[in-house]
Amino acid sequence: MSQIALELKDVQKTINKKEIIKGVSLTVRQGEVYGFIGPNGAGKTTTIRMIVGLMKPTGGDIKILGKSIQHDYKEAAQNVGAIVENPELYPFMTGMQNLKHFARMYQGITRERIEEVVSLVGLEKAIHTKVRKYSLGMRQRLGIAQAILHKPKVLILDEPTNGLDPAGMREVREYIRRLADEEQVAVVISSHLLSEIELICDRIGIIKHGEIITERYVNEDDSDAVEKKIKVVIDVNEPEDAMNVLKSMEVDVVQEGKQLIVQLQREEIPPVVKTLVEHHISIYGVTGIKATLEEQFLELTGGNVIE
Ligand SMILES: Nc1ncnc2c1ncn2[C@@H]1O[C@H](COP(=O)(O)OP(=O)(O)OP(=O)(O)O)[C@@H](O)[C@H]1O
Ligand SMILES: [Mg+2]
Repeated sequence: MSQIALELKDVQKTINKKEIIKGVSLTVRQGEVYGFIGPNGAGKTTTIRMIVGLMKPTGGDIKILGKSIQHDYKEAAQNVGAIVENPELYPFMTGMQNLKHFARMYQGITRERIEEVVSLVGLEKAIHTKVRKYSLGMRQRLGIAQAILHKPKVLILDEPTNGLDPAGMREVREYIRRLADEEQVAVVISSHLLSEIELICDRIGIIKHGEIITERYVNEDDSDAVEKKIKVVIDVNEPEDAMNVLKSMEVDVVQEGKQLIVQLQREEIPPVVKTLVEHHISIYGVTGIKATLEEQFLELTGGNVIE
C-alpha cells in the first residue's frame, strides 16, 4: 500500500464552548481520493481549515507526510494545496497574473510549470483575460491551477464543483482523478452531495455534527455486504402464481406488474429461481440491484442531505 500522505488523529475544535469538531480521525494515502461528505453545517470546512493551517485545532494532531501542521507548519504546508470555500483570486488581474503572483510565494515554480497547469485545467484561451470577467467554472479551474502549482502531495478541495454545470463538474472530477492516478496526489474533496463525487472517490467518510459517522471504500466488497440482502427483480409471465410460490418459501416479496421484487441474500438466489422453475413459472429475467451508495448514505443520514 502507498504511503500515508495525510493523517488526522482525534482532531477537535471547540469555539465558544461549542464542540464543532468532536474528534475526527482519518488517513489518506498517496494517490487516493477521499470524499468528505456531509450535510451543511456538518463541519467539513472547519476540518479543512484546520488541515491547511487556517485554524488551530483545540485537540488532536494533523500530519502531512509525517509533518505536524501545528509544530512543523512550514514543512507541512509546503506539501499542501487547497481551495477552501472559494478560490482566492484577484479579480483585477488576469488568470496568468494571478498564477504568477501565487508562484512567487513558493520556490522553483518555472514558467513551464505555469503553462503546464494552465493546459491541465484547460484555461489556455482565457488565461490572459481579467478574472472579474471569468465565469464561475473558469474561476474554479483557475483556483485548482493555483492550488496545484507547487506540486503539492496533498490537495484539499472544499466543494470544488460548487456552482458548476454538469459538464464542468465532470471535467473537474476527471481532472482530480488524473492527478491522483498520475501524480500520486492524495486528494480530499468535500461535498454535501454524495452522488456528485462518488464516482471518482476511492473512499468516502461521512461527517455529521462534527463526527465521522461512517467511512467506506466505494467499491468495497466487504463481508458485511455478503450478509446483506440484495434487491432482486424477477420478470415472470404468471406473477400471481409466482407470488404464491415465493410466499410459501417465506421470501420477502412485492409485486409490481409482471415484476416481482424480492429481498434475498446472494446464495438464496439460485434455490429461489430453481423452485420457481419447478413450479413451471416462466422466467424472463433476474436482475440484482445493488443499493447505491446514495441509498446507503440517505439511510445513514436519515435521508436529510441538507439540514
Ligand atoms: N468561526 C466560527 N465560530 C462559531 N461557529 C462556527 C465557526 N465556524 C463554523 N462554525 C459552526 O460550525 C459548524 C460547522 O460549520 P462548517 O462550515 O464547518 O460546516 P460545513 O460542513 O462546511 O457546511 P457547508 O456544507 O454549509 O459548507 C456550523 O454549525 C457553523 O455554524
Ligand atoms: Mg463548508
